Amino acid sequence: MTKILITEFIDSQSLQNINKKFDVIYKKDAWQNKDFLEREIQKFDGIIVRNKTSLDKKILINASNLKFIGRLGVGLDNIDTEYCKKNNIIVQPATGMNSDSVAEYVVNSSLTLLKKTHIIKEQTIQGKWPRTSIVTKELKGKTLGLIGFGDISKKVSNLVNVFDVSCIAYDPFITSKQMEAANVKKVLFDEILNLADIISIHVPLNNETKYIFDRQAFIKMKKQPIIINSSRGGVINEKDLIDAYKNKYISGFALDVFENEPVNEAFYNNITNDMNCILTPHIAGVTAESNVRVSNFIIDKTNKFFENFKD
Ligand SMILES: NC(=O)c1ccc[n+]([C@@H]2O[C@H](COP(=O)([O-])OP(=O)(O)OC[C@H]3O[C@@H](n4cnc5c(N)ncnc54)[C@H](O)[C@@H]3O)[C@@H](O)[C@H]2O)c1
Repeated sequence: MTKILITEFIDSQSLQNINKKFDVIYKKDAWQNKDFLEREIQKFDGIIVRNKTSLDKKILINASNLKFIGRLGVGLDNIDTEYCKKNNIIVQPATGMNSDSVAEYVVNSSLTLLKKTHIIKEQTIQGKWPRTSIVTKELKGKTLGLIGFGDISKKVSNLVNVFDVSCIAYDPFITSKQMEAANVKKVLFDEILNLADIISIHVPLNNETKYIFDRQAFIKMKKQPIIINSSRGGVINEKDLIDAYKNKYISGFALDVFENEPVNEAFYNNITNDMNCILTPHIAGVTAESNVRVSNFIIDKTNKFFENFKD
């Protein structure tokens, strides 16, 4: 019998659709228990995870029966994909299923950081009535610099069209023709730093993207941009980001992802209520709607994979 382990939360309705012939163990906190995973993973043919379950070599080396990993999301930095490739383990992300949620998060963060509604609310309830003391801005006419031009960036560029925003993007793997089709101009990384009023990051975390936003990048920024990171912590050096804000190289930031999750004191002790920033606990892609889409997609792919699997 095909044995499937699910180690993080999944939509309960979607789970009803998993092939009834499978033996399914759903332990939504199993990601926290490395000993359990190391010991038990050899019993399973398939495993379904989100981003918190670390499927590194130390765990996978025990997975002698594993054929399929379903990822309820898109980033694969918690999975040793090289090991999987060498050992014929198929890794299936839920490509595109939560992009709309993330794209909306980017538009919402852009507007909030320009309108500063979070700071204005704070001061209003302190009785300060900050009608003219806080200067706010329009999104209309701004330049949005996208780092990476994959699924999410495309959706963001499409959404901001109605605001008359100019989009530029840095992605060495996408041609200028492909970008032009989406009304986006292909530029170099340094041009983004020079030209953008808003910078939104949508790249995977890997050796090339680790700390692409560090002190060197921040000090080249010309227009005191807003920075939005909903990709992966580690793409930005957080210490350098806080310094850049304090030294006015940037005018605000929204972080959904962090170098350490959950964030620790070393990070949040630097944050005060009057700062133009938004901090969210890795939820840009997790909405009620996307949770259903992602879960349905991975359950369907799991069913199909094992229906077609031949030893
Ligand atoms: N916060 C969340 O809840 C959440 C949800 C979904 C995705 N994500 C993250 O967002 C990232 C982007 O998602 P996506 O669906 O757009 O992915 P995608 O694979 O469609 O696009 C990523 C793009 O990055 C480009 N890229 C790769 N290396 C690059 C580099 N060194 N410099 C510039 N560009 C580079 C690729 O060419 C690709 O076009 C994912 O990797 C994932 O980690 C986060």
